[in-house]
Amino acid sequence: EMTTRVTVVGSGNWGSVAAKLIASNTLKLNSFHDEVIMWVFEEILPTGEKLSQVINRTNENVKYLPGIKLGKNVVANPDLESAVKDANLLVFVTPHQFMEGICKRLVGKIRADAEAISLIKGMEVKREGPCMISSLISEQLGINCCVLMGANIANEIAVEKFSEATVGYRKNKEIADKWVQLFNTSYFAVTAVQDVEGVELCGTLKNVVALAAGFVDGLEMGNNTKAAIMRVGLREMKAFSKLLFPSVKDSTFFESCGIADVITTCLGGRNRKCAEAFARNGGKRSFDELEAEMLQGQKLQGVSTAKEVYEVLRHRGWLELFPLFSTVHEICISRLPPTAIVEYSEHTPKYS
Ligand code: NAD
Ligand code: 13P
Repeated sequence: EMTTRVTVVGSGNWGSVAAKLIASNTLKLNSFHDEVIMWVFEEILPTGEKLSQVINRTNENVKYLPGIKLGKNVVANPDLESAVKDANLLVFVTPHQFMEGICKRLVGKIRADAEAISLIKGMEVKREGPCMISSLISEQLGINCCVLMGANIANEIAVEKFSEATVGYRKNKEIADKWVQLFNTSYFAVTAVQDVEGVELCGTLKNVVALAAGFVDGLEMGNNTKAAIMRVGLREMKAFSKLLFPSVKDSTFFESCGIADVITTCLGGRNRKCAEAFARNGGKRSFDELEAEMLQGQKLQGVSTAKEVYEVLRHRGWLELFPLFSTVHEICISRLPPTAIVEYSEHTPKYS
């Protein structure tokens, strides 16, 4: 059979919506095999049932995306090896902290000619320096990896409200077009840009800006302050991305993955929500505690990303160039109070 097979690795809030989007397209497009396999990190629900079995019985991810039918052609599989074995296209969408372990388990288990895309907003910091998740995937598995990022609050896309997204690719425009074809729907408008690092860094870094916006909300500082945070945040995103990868394009920050994701995440994201609660409590309750209490098993990416960014900044001697990023981390670890989020400007940024 010549049709392209797709496996989604991950089944959280966004992972489940991604599977739904993809499954609606594989049914319509002849070049794709109808069935979409979704790897589920197995867990036992309070009812005593296995999550993967409930997904297959009800066609809903009752834990991470309740109330939404995924499409009959989405098949949950808790066995990672069998889920990926025949896939031509691999869609990675788990919280970023699990990807190193998942990649290790996948070495030698996937098709050598598989193509990958990462929807994961985050990075790893190794002794050699920062490593984007798409690089982790492509280096560990020896395959090409594009990225898809954007202003994409999963619960809104789940109910088919219109949004845009950006595919970032390295060289091969044909592969990028294939990903656009797989994801694009009437309510999900996808554009491809040749700037994989720029797109991925936008998606990763905006989670740090979202924490800053949440602090401002928790302190009830108002819209002007929050807009200032978004502006400075976007400027630090651009400066940081270009220092790490000089090839990053300015235009990428005006795609959905850039300014649009900053806005939506600072208005309606999970990082914002937990940071608001953190600031309201004067920093006395930890993010781990707030995440567990407020997100029902979903994961924050911003707190660990702020730490990872801070490590890069400290290691390279760039801390003063990024007062917003570094202050967010120092607030997260309680070295500074939440009110410091608007006090850092005394260390005027040195970049233009
Ligand atoms: P999520 O926040 O819902 O995370 C929960 C998922 O993690 C569940 O599937 C759970 O089974 C899994 N998990 C828990 N422990 C695990 C382990 N030890 N190993 C492997 N998996 C484990 O996940 P999500 O919302 O799908 O987010 C995935 C990525 O997509 C993140 O990088 C996020 O930033 C990004 N993203 C999320 C949204 C959104 O609105 N939710 C939108 C765009 C991008
Ligand atoms: P949160 O993880 O803060 O909810 O952000 C979701 C997102 O990435 C929207 O594009």
